[in-house]
Amino acid sequence: MVNKLEIAPSILGGDHTALAESVAKIEAAGLSWVHVDVMDGHFVPNLSFGPGVVKSLRGKFPKLFLDTHLMLDNPHEYIEAFAKAGADLISIHVEPDYPVGPTLGEIHLLGKRNGIVLNPKTPVDTVVEFLPQVDLVLVMSVQPGFGGQSFNPVALDKLRYLRRVREDMKLSFRIEVDGGITAANVASVIESGADTIVAGTEFFKNASNLLSAANAAAG
Ligand code: DX5
Ligand code: ZN
Repeated sequence: MVNKLEIAPSILGGDHTALAESVAKIEAAGLSWVHVDVMDGHFVPNLSFGPGVVKSLRGKFPKLFLDTHLMLDNPHEYIEAFAKAGADLISIHVEPDYPVGPTLGEIHLLGKRNGIVLNPKTPVDTVVEFLPQVDLVLVMSVQPGFGGQSFNPVALDKLRYLRRVREDMKLSFRIEVDGGITAANVASVIESGADTIVAGTEFFKNASNLLSAANAAAG
């Protein structure tokens, strides 16, 4: 594996009246990444967390790595707010109509890591032009908007493709997968090339099985 395996539990899958407890559970499991899903009710048909939540988490958990997944029609208008709030990595979708490349550049100028995200129906080659400038590619294995959906295996071919292209282009971006990951399918995504695993529902229900299956698959 080019990158060390990271499991990034999604706090969307925990109790929203007890976010600090969800994050404490992530820390107690020995993990350092936390996945924060940000939804705008336009790009996806749901609403979730804003920069205020990121700021509070940053204050309470200064050492954790806040992996912020923006599901917004206009992510370029919110990059600065999330950077100032303390996000460590900001991922933006390739599908909406906005200046994707310059926004990825702006995330770096703000001193943060960047990621590009693609939906299950989006062909993987749409992100290739951005690969030299990204720290992470996030492959959605469900249509974004809600936790608790079933994994779509269309993601596996994309993971394999990205691993191959990363090697061909001599790059080192992380390959993240998000949606429907369980103890039963986590090995398949790791074997296909994912090194960063988002899990919401399964982490808060079945963390120990999920983590042992993931660690076994990563070797
Ligand atoms: C979906 C979000 C996911 C979601 C994953 O819009 O991007 O991060 O929380 O949840 P599970 O693991 O339950 O599919
Ligand atoms: Zn997500």
